[in-house]
Order: sequence, then structure tokens, then C-alpha cells
Amino acid sequence: MKILITGAAGFIGFHLCKSLLENGNDIFGIDNLNSYYDPQLKTARLNHLQQFSNFEFSKLDIADKEKLESIVSKFQPERIVNLAAQAGVRYSIENPYVYLDSNITGFLNILECCRKFEIKGLIYASSSSVYGGNETYPSHPEDKTEKPLALYGATKKSNELMAYAYSNLYGIPTTGLRYFTVYGPWGRPDMALYKFAELILSGDPIPVYNQGKMKRDFTYIDDIIKGTVAAIERNFENEIFNLGNNKSENLMDMISILETSIDTKANVNLMPLQPGDVLESYADIEKSEKLLGYVPKTCIEEGIPKFVAWLKQYKSENGK
Ligand SMILES: NC(=O)c1ccc[n+]([C@@H]2O[C@H](COP(=O)([O-])OP(=O)(O)OC[C@H]3O[C@@H](n4cnc5c(N)ncnc54)[C@H](O)[C@@H]3O)[C@@H](O)[C@H]2O)c1
Repeated sequence: MKILITGAAGFIGFHLCKSLLENGNDIFGIDNLNSYYDPQLKTARLNHLQQFSNFEFSKLDIADKEKLESIVSKFQPERIVNLAAQAGVRYSIENPYVYLDSNITGFLNILECCRKFEIKGLIYASSSSVYGGNETYPSHPEDKTEKPLALYGATKKSNELMAYAYSNLYGIPTTGLRYFTVYGPWGRPDMALYKFAELILSGDPIPVYNQGKMKRDFTYIDDIIKGTVAAIERNFENEIFNLGNNKSENLMDMISILETSIDTKANVNLMPLQPGDVLESYADIEKSEKLLGYVPKTCIEEGIPKFVAWLKQYKSENGK
């Protein structure tokens, strides 16, 4: 298939491109390579992808409607996968406007491209953040999602509503994937697992919010990619899926596995809850199992050591 992937130099985008390229698909990647976190990591991911002859790339902001349209009209993809977004819950409190540009205007441009160039399927990243402060677990795709705790979650929920409207108006098949705390090699330096690992390695204290009383459904990147590829292949009319591990882990247990993997005790600095943070995430994946054949296989005891091994190698190769 010919697939256009936005956010291609990002964590999930890189792994998705790699997997689809290895299976012989033609991929056009787009990314604005912004400096929300170290762009050197994005360039390093991109260097790997550029070794494939079936990979093309353009540095582009999806908020730039004209340039985006020109690429889509030339490449004529059979699917668009939209992963480009301003991520991060806490950052959305300090920098609200960038979320509107990338996650709302950018997403509308993607939908407009789907309409204008009659794209046969759009798959886009939503987030567990849409469940906001809900207190019933595990979270089911049909649960109410009207109370996001930060702007980031509000933009992701808006994407789901916008996609629904475009499916309804123009018959564009759209699939939203609510990812739950994705981790693994080539991961995101702004996320807790990566930050904690770096701080433990350097012997600095790790800030643990809400006194460590938080739970997350940590999902290994390989499982996320399998679920995303299934969504691309099965191409539903209009669906939303949870992609999680279906296991909510205590933050302190995650830290303890990290300590074992690094073979160093963490210097834990207990802190109050941060505004916008949810206390727990936990995915009900029954629908994903049934319709996507999604069965996550990697537990954190197996996934965290793989992440740590990659991090050590990446740091030593790049003098970090
Ligand atoms: N990683 C997670 O745990 C997680 C959880 C829930 C949802 N998501 C969503 O999944 C998607 C991918 O996340 P990720 O973890 O790979 O994040 P990431 O930040 O590593 O990747 C996103 C990429 O998009 C690019 N980008 C951002 N704004 C852009 C724009 N306006 N135009 C073009 N490129 C732009 C960035 O440079 C980055 O490389 C995002 O939509 C994110 O919100 C991720």
C-alpha cells in the first residue's frame, strides 16, 4: 500500500514506518521536527528510515495546508495515518496555542485532504487522556469522555468528533486509536519512564508526583504497532479503539523494575499531584481484541529492560 504517515520522526511514527517499510509498503513521512524534545533523537530515527528505498520524507508542518495538499495530491496515498501532534499533558498548560495549531488546525487539514483527494482510509492517534477524571476502570471505548483534565485531552477528543463528522458527511473511513502510555526503545524523553531512567543513570533524584500514588497502563511499542497496522489493514467505517496493555501498574512498581534493570537504587523525591494529571489509566481492550485481533504480549518486566538496554546504547553512541 501507499501510506502517508505524519509524525514519522516521532516515537510511534518511527516504529510504524519501519514496520510498514519492512513489509514492502511505500511510505511518505511528514514531520516538522520541532524541538519540544531533543530534535537529534528525531533525526537519528529518520536516518534509519532513510535507509529504505521505499521511504520518502518531507519536513513539513501539517498546519501548512497548501504544502500538505501538494504532497498528498502528488503521492496519492491509499491511507493516511495521522500521528503528528503536540503531545504532553503538562506542556499543554503552559503552551496552549501550539496544541490548537498542530492538533486542531493540523488535524482539520488532514481531514480536508482526505475529502479533497478521496483518501480511502484515515487512521489517527487519539489518547487515553480523553477519559480524563473518570473513576470507573478499566476504561471502555463507550465510556463518557466529556471531562478531559487538560487541553491536550480536549484536543484529542475534538479529533474524534471531527473525524466522526467527516465520516458522516463524506463517507471517509476513520479509525481513532486511544494509545495508553506507550514505551520502548527510541521512546520519548519527555515521558516519565525515560526521564526516570536518565535521572537514575546520572544519580539525580527523580520527581514522583502524587507521592507515587498513580497507576498507568504501560503499553510496549511492538504491541502498539501491531494494533495500528491491523487498523490500517482492516480500515473501519468509523471506530474508536483502546490500545493499552489491559494492566494498570503502580508507578512505584515501574520504578522498582527500572532500578533492577539499571542495577541502581533511585533517589525518590515525593511530590504533590500536578494539575492536569490523571490518577489512573487502565484500558479495556475487549473491542480491540475482537475487531483488530489485538493481543498485547509484552509485560513491563520484559519491556522495561529492553528500553533500558536501548537507552544505554543510544547514550553511549551519541555522547549523551
Ligand atoms: N506515546 C504515548 O504514550 C502516546 C499516548 C497517547 C497518545 N499518543 C499520541 O500518539 C501520537 C504519536 O506520539 P509519539 O509518542 O510518537 O509522540 P512524538 O512527539 O514522539 O511524535 C510526534 C511527532 O510529530 C511531530 N509533529 C508535531 N507537531 C507537528 C506538526 N504540526 N506538523 C508535523 N509534525 C508535527 C513531532 O516533531 C514528532 O516527531 C501523537 O498524536 C500523540 O499525541 C501518544
